[in-house]
Amino acid sequence: MTLNQFKLLYQERLALLYPENEIHSILQIVCENLLNWSRSDFLMNDQEEMSLLQEEILQNSLRELSTSKPVQYITGKAHFYGHEFTVNEHTLIPRQETEELVDMIIKDHKKESYLNIIDIGTGTGCIGLSLKAAKPSCIVTLMDVSKEALATAQSNADHLKTPVKTILQDILGLDTLPEKYGIIVSNPPYVRDLEKVEIHKNVLNNEPHLALFVDDNNALVFYRKIMELSKNALQPNGILYFEINQYLPEEMKALATELGFKSEVFKDLNGNYRMMKCERILKI
Ligand SMILES: C[S@@+](CC[C@H](N)C(=O)[O-])C[C@H]1O[C@@H](n2cnc3c(N)ncnc32)[C@H](O)[C@@H]1O
Repeated sequence: MTLNQFKLLYQERLALLYPENEIHSILQIVCENLLNWSRSDFLMNDQEEMSLLQEEILQNSLRELSTSKPVQYITGKAHFYGHEFTVNEHTLIPRQETEELVDMIIKDHKKESYLNIIDIGTGTGCIGLSLKAAKPSCIVTLMDVSKEALATAQSNADHLKTPVKTILQDILGLDTLPEKYGIIVSNPPYVRDLEKVEIHKNVLNNEPHLALFVDDNNALVFYRKIMELSKNALQPNGILYFEINQYLPEEMKALATELGFKSEVFKDLNGNYRMMKCERILKI
């Protein structure tokens, strides 16, 4: 078969799962990662007969994609803030809106070279490691309750040559954070069970539920805990950054006020409230 024939086959088999342009990108990602093709190979090689091995790889990938498995779990890689991260069934695939959070933090701290940072619920480590890569003099700690996710984050740190500390810990079981930090950042689980109906099948069936979902009746459980811990763990001018549930910005602001923080929420490029910044209101 030729690449052109595979393009048609992928469009036909994946039409119910993805829009046409996304199917095109998915096939390109498969060719680049699993056939080691360059972008220009993908553009130029569309008429040539493929080897049996290449055909087998594209057929196997299509089979997995048809089960709604995200392409990143098939290639084992995702790109985030200019870096390549290993992903697997224990880690969330890093999202574009999370890149916006990282970008905001880097811009806010352009002038500071030394900062003590903790990334709570680190998954692949994408937030903490991107901050470390942008600001190598910072000390970065990555925390997660999942042993497998934390091992993946450590291997990403090794690959990026960004040395970090890691802590395997259930944040909900902590009374204090181990150090004082200039930046505490978290993208914790925040999708309510009631929002499952909106979630694409490929996310629901493949990404770790531990990373995504919270109880409808206790949707802000992680934010409350992290704010409570941050009261004592933030350095005097320290900032707490969150990725937030787009449907709950008012509830988040109310929570921050209740716990003694001044806060601001920000929209992402899609116009959804997705980022939050909190600072302690210091009593004189
Ligand atoms: C929404 S994912 C975010 C992953 C990554 N930071 C990102 O932005 O792509 C939430 C992460 O929190 C972790 N997590 C869930 N419950 C936790 C807990 N009780 N304590 C610490 N981490 C937890 C999950 O394992 C997951 O890696």
